Amino acid sequence: MTLTLRHMRRSDLAMVAAMEEDLFGEEAWSPGMLASELGDLPDRFYLVADEDGQIAGYAGLLAPMGEHADVLTIAVARPRWGLGIGTALLEALVAETARRGCPEIYLEVRVDNDRAQRLYRRYGFNAVGLRRGYYQPSGTDAVVMRRVTGAPAARASGSTGRDTSWPRGPGSTAGGGR
Ligand SMILES: CC(C)(COP(=O)(O)OP(=O)(O)OC[C@H]1O[C@@H](n2cnc3c(N)ncnc32)[C@H](O)[C@@H]1OP(=O)(O)O)[C@@H](O)C(=O)NCCC(=O)NCCS
Repeated sequence: MTLTLRHMRRSDLAMVAAMEEDLFGEEAWSPGMLASELGDLPDRFYLVADEDGQIAGYAGLLAPMGEHADVLTIAVARPRWGLGIGTALLEALVAETARRGCPEIYLEVRVDNDRAQRLYRRYGFNAVGLRRGYYQPSGTDAVVMRRVTGAPAARASGSTGRDTSWPRGPGSTAGGGR
């Protein structure tokens, strides 16, 4: 079996939406939200892990040039967990933020998602905050994690701080993921 990381295409959306449903349940992004993320949005970066034509995983990033980046989503099909696909997707997102000169990467992860938190910690993310009731409709809190890339910021001054508006998610220009 050959695993390839490539850009997500519209033709992948049916498989991605099915995985969303399975992995995120009531918090799944709708097919419409997913489709809008693949519109003409240069600050977005969506990848799939393609195993011989089957989507084994996918990941999305919001990364405006020279500004902080947000991991919007990362997911691997259940039968493919534990094989390093999540790590490969995360590595690809981090590499893209370096190419775009993003000084730091943020993400949100459910407080009860130990597996994902372990993956992020292994990859240099540290907990920097908590967003209460971030996940709806469950009301579950999110841990905010950050990885400092050390890449130079494009702007010497001015605000690149996080927009704390809530709720956020796909289609939002403010960034923030799950
Ligand atoms: C979180 C998630 C993306 C991780 O994906 P994954 O492909 O299983 O991740 P990896 O395989 O890279 O790493 C996970 C584990 O497998 C282990 N692993 C990595 N490569 C391996 C290999 N070749 N053989 C065996 N185990 C391996 C890792 O050490 C890691 O173990 P640990 O978590 O106990 O430390 C996946 O579980 C998922 O999709 N979960 C549901 C959606 C979700 O929660 N997304 C995150 C939202 S914030």
